[in-house]
Amino acid sequence: MKRAVYPGSFDPVTQGHLDIIERAANLADELIVGVLNNNEKTPLFSVEERVNMLKDVTAHISNVSVEAFNGLSVEFCKKCDASFLVRGLRAVTDFEYELQMAQTNRSLEKGVDTLFFVTELNYAYISSTIVKEVASYGGDISGFVPPQIKDRVYARIEARTEAKSEVRTESKSEAVCAAKEMT
Ligand code: PNS
Repeated sequence: MKRAVYPGSFDPVTQGHLDIIERAANLADELIVGVLNNNEKTPLFSVEERVNMLKDVTAHISNVSVEAFNGLSVEFCKKCDASFLVRGLRAVTDFEYELQMAQTNRSLEKGVDTLFFVTELNYAYISSTIVKEVASYGGDISGFVPPQIKDRVYARIEARTEAKSEVRTESKSEAVCAAKEMT
């Protein structure tokens, strides 16, 4: 049984991620997509939302499951009894970081090998960061994310923008009140 783990942030899942998942699932008997619950970053979507989105977009692939994890990717691989860790390589710019990560992981755990998939050319420029950037300016992200994800990204960005402008309005009116009290 060849079990593999594909770890990442997936905030949100992109067409590039999905392409890697489909190809890795063809190679492995079982593929577990691991969603990192990273407390240091402020993600657009909670880890539960990211797991659910990934479950939605991989529902058609029978040997794929999705789980959240904390801590080291290799520890998650060990917990899942997986001997392969999957990553995608989009461009040379990814290579240095990915190489360092693969070497670190290898030195931490000899029982886990990193397997790189070269990203399909049509998706080579897509990242979760680019998706959020384009969506935040109202650009079309339909080519970048699976169809089930598109509207969730717009809705979350809109909600965030509204929340931010409410905070700004509140602090502006507080400042006006404070200024009035001082006069
Ligand atoms: O999708 P991302 O954000 O490029 O994924 C990066 C991820 C989650 C694979 C990487 O940050 C990771 O493995 N984090 C867990 C901590 C860890 O194992 N670090 C050691 C490798 S340097």
